[in-house]
Amino acid sequence: MTALWTDDLSVGDQGIDDDHIGLFELINDLSNASMTHGYINNILHQLARYTEEHFSKEEEHMRKFDFPGVEAHLAQHEEFVEWLTTIRKMYARFPQSPFVVGDAVNSYLQRWLREHILQEDMKYRDFILEQKQAS
Ligand SMILES: [Fe+2]
Repeated sequence: MTALWTDDLSVGDQGIDDDHIGLFELINDLSNASMTHGYINNILHQLARYTEEHFSKEEEHMRKFDFPGVEAHLAQHEEFVEWLTTIRKMYARFPQSPFVVGDAVNSYLQRWLREHILQEDMKYRDFILEQKQAS
């Protein structure tokens, strides 16, 4: 599946949108890449940075607008962080299997895009939009 970011996915915050666009690009790149050790290492580092920077941006944004679903949303971010920790540990133990790890990362991110970005992120987006329209 090609991940295509369009303007209607904008959450109204440039920084968060840019991160989402970056992740869409990473997902597209990943499905066409040859899974070398260096490539997978690089992807895992990028994702680690993503969890540190992007998730806190979203948290700040949701809290700023008193989004009521913030705790449930953050629980999903936490799951992502745990998954990433597990996969990084696994890869450190089995560095001879970049293909297997690449495959696992690919399917997790595809699911994350479908179930988190396209659904959960859109919930706070819609909530904030309604707040802004009402005020
Ligand atoms: Fe999110």
